[in-house]
Amino acid sequence: MWCKSLAHISRRVSRSTFRDFHVTGTFSSRDLKESENLRSDVRKKSPRILITGGLGQLGTECAKLLRKNYGNENVILSDIIKPTDENLSNGPFIFADILDFKGLQKIVVNYRIDWLIHFSALLSAIGEQNVPLAVRVNIEGMHNVIELAKQYKLRIFIPSTIGAFGPDSPRNPTPNVTIQRPRTIYGVSKVHAELLGEYYHHRFGLDFRCLRFPGVISSDPPGGGTTDYAVAVFHEGLLTKKYECYLEPCTRLPMMYIEDCLSALFQFLNTSNDQLRRRVYNVTAMSFTPEELFNELKKHVPDLKITYKPDGRQYIAESWPQVFDDSEARRDWGWQNKYNLEQLVESMIRDVRVNLLSKKSLKEVNSYV
Ligand SMILES: NC(=O)c1ccc[n+]([C@@H]2O[C@H](COP(=O)([O-])OP(=O)(O)OC[C@H]3O[C@@H](n4cnc5c(N)ncnc54)[C@H](O)[C@@H]3O)[C@@H](O)[C@H]2O)c1
Repeated sequence: MWCKSLAHISRRVSRSTFRDFHVTGTFSSRDLKESENLRSDVRKKSPRILITGGLGQLGTECAKLLRKNYGNENVILSDIIKPTDENLSNGPFIFADILDFKGLQKIVVNYRIDWLIHFSALLSAIGEQNVPLAVRVNIEGMHNVIELAKQYKLRIFIPSTIGAFGPDSPRNPTPNVTIQRPRTIYGVSKVHAELLGEYYHHRFGLDFRCLRFPGVISSDPPGGGTTDYAVAVFHEGLLTKKYECYLEPCTRLPMMYIEDCLSALFQFLNTSNDQLRRRVYNVTAMSFTPEELFNELKKHVPDLKITYKPDGRQYIAESWPQVFDDSEARRDWGWQNKYNLEQLVESMIRDVRVNLLSKKSLKEVNSYV
């Protein structure tokens, strides 16, 4: 759609410009200005975007949304893992290791990148299993992308998390600005990213933007975080009618459905700088406990059997916010969620069903769900 309109505009400009050239022997300055303005308008409308860590839970869905709005070719997915055929079917995919600064420079230059969405990370539970790797990916990798964004004047989005808070933070509600003393390497690296991003903004004028997401629930497999149970129960519960939860039944955490997460990201990326009173905002949609989620799911799958066997993730969850205060995002750039718990469960059942259908025979799935 965008490509069509760009082609139309450039045809229109070049036709009239060349017609004037033939008549007068020279391009009028008005035509050249018009041509420049139109090109810059179109370019403004359609940034070229690089997504790092793009094959994870958030990246592929995010690419779909951005491609719908900016054109397939303008959104470049990247990762260090192998893409599926589906990943390759909708637009460009390239290998990009965020620890390789020169490789990233090459991509930004060759693809003329304007915005960088930095999703590469080791999440909370995985990070605790390999702290040195988490330091490299989450901290050194972040140094690379932020320096790159400064050098090439990119708009850069880096997500943060409820995991950027710790046991000293107020947990119900957790305001936008408060004590942050996380106890995981994941949380420490996210606080580091928030602070460095804000510093680069104030010191160098970098257009750094950051949303602290709660647990994000989607039908894609999660990447090893503490809130993963709220995704896993849909897959395992719908397939086998049983699920063993690694958190205590009453562990309350903030959550949001993927569609809300991505629309927050999209809206925030498109908010003008003068509306932003800060560079880092809390966003959320709801808070629930495992028990509350399972009870809602049982309305659709009455014979679902749940057992509980808390592990190390319980300790992490107990240091995190229970209810997230996102009133500043609502006030400054009009953030509003669409999905509550009931709608989230209905949508997840539908999404997981579609996912299963694409992998198994219809007969098999109908007997499960
Ligand atoms: N999913 C959530 O619930 C949630 C909540 C809050 C914040 N976030 C943040 O959103 C971002 C994306 O989360 P996600 O759930 O999609 O994570 P994920 O674990 O599913 O995906 C992360 C991706 O990073 C890639 N990666 C790892 N090392 C890399 C390297 N050296 N170079 C390039 N890529 C590398 C992995 O291959 C993976 O595909 C993360 O920064 C995470 O902290 C996620």
